[in-house]
Amino acid sequence: MLSIDLNSPAFLRTPYPFYAELRNAAPLHRLMPGAWLTTRYEDADRILRDPRFGKDFLAGVARRYGAGAVKEPAFQMVNRFMLLMNPPEHTRLRALVGKAFSVKQAPELRRLAQRETDRLIDEFIDHGCADLVRMFAYPLPVRIICALLDIPPEDGLPYLEDAQALVKVFELSPIGPSDIDAANRAAQAFERHFRNICDERRKNPGHDLISLLLQAEEGEDRLSRDEIVANVALLFLAGHETTANMIGNALLTLFRHPEQLALLRTNLSLLPRAVNECLRYETSVHIAARVAMQDVTIGTVTIKRGETVYINLAAANRDPAVFEQPERFLIERPEQTQKPLSFGGGMHYCLGARLARIELETALAGLLRRLPELQLEGVDDPPWKPTITIRGLDRLPAYWQTERSRADPRSEQPH
Ligand code: HEM
Repeated sequence: MLSIDLNSPAFLRTPYPFYAELRNAAPLHRLMPGAWLTTRYEDADRILRDPRFGKDFLAGVARRYGAGAVKEPAFQMVNRFMLLMNPPEHTRLRALVGKAFSVKQAPELRRLAQRETDRLIDEFIDHGCADLVRMFAYPLPVRIICALLDIPPEDGLPYLEDAQALVKVFELSPIGPSDIDAANRAAQAFERHFRNICDERRKNPGHDLISLLLQAEEGEDRLSRDEIVANVALLFLAGHETTANMIGNALLTLFRHPEQLALLRTNLSLLPRAVNECLRYETSVHIAARVAMQDVTIGTVTIKRGETVYINLAAANRDPAVFEQPERFLIERPEQTQKPLSFGGGMHYCLGARLARIELETALAGLLRRLPELQLEGVDDPPWKPTITIRGLDRLPAYWQTERSRADPRSEQPH
């Protein structure tokens, strides 16, 4: 069994030394009966692409919570996400959803991200201080995904807490009964909400993603109503929870490395590379899961058919076998063929990677340009959420000079 405590405060604060210990010790670690953890790049990359591995989310649920738990609404709903399907169902859904998604071209996505970034900064720029997680990192991707789905942002925002309750079903360590209840309530609320929107959209189609999903066709094939509802919920969830945490992680990482931040400030054309390095160094999605569809031997270990492998993407991103000096954060790191695994790999490679990069670049550029004196508080020991699968901050307090405080330094206290 694993020698480290994944729930200890030291691990949650900085998991990377623990990941290094696991990476050095062995390619695979027994996490619990029927489940393994892998941390090396080569193994992670290979398993993500290997057709002998697939998805069987409900088997993992049964193992961790008992056979009866698979009927819980939260587990049932999530199991209809394309993210958790195998070919041929996955191939079919990915083609149809991908087709709708690809209609939205990069310039349109950039304009949208810019508009929402500016609107959000306008809302707090005169305050001189803000919690950037609550005021910026979360609302930005929510507003963008709401605009893409053409639902009013105020319709999306009440679901933020539900979204956080629902993503807990992906946690590596089993969650408790009250968290399962909260996830169930969230799943039912999402289902009702998106079902109503899809029904309304069928009557009044537009140019948004839901209308495109309703129209998407491959030959004779179309998506059913249940498939659309489940995958709209997936886009809403995947479209903001991952990105919101990544915006916070990227800001924190840049401010923890002032010389890299200064380099970026003097040359904003480095932004795409800075975003890549933030994704490698402090990604928001640490774990992807796969189930062996047959016995597979890796090194000296045989993963038995039906067993789960938790792939630690964040540990792979810091593997010295692939990345030179992986513990250093270097926004000018040379391009290499082996990419960080932050967006996964193989057939489930993140469908929103292009959008996520645009959101990250626009968000960082917006803050750096419009708040040139931005400072973050408590970067040495920030409040990390107590979750492993998704890594992100609870709060990110920040302050800056406003026009008023610049004119009269006594007029305002920063916080
Ligand atoms: C920084 C932000 C993001 C990160 C780090 C991220 C990460 C990931 C990862 C690691 C996977 C693969 C999981 C696996 O193999 O089991 C994935 C899949 C997926 N992501 Fe993202 N994601 C991000 C943003 C987004 C956005 C903005 C959207 C959509 C609006 C999105 C939609 C999806 C979908 C639909 C899948 C499932 C693809 C499939 O199963 O074929 N993601 N993402």
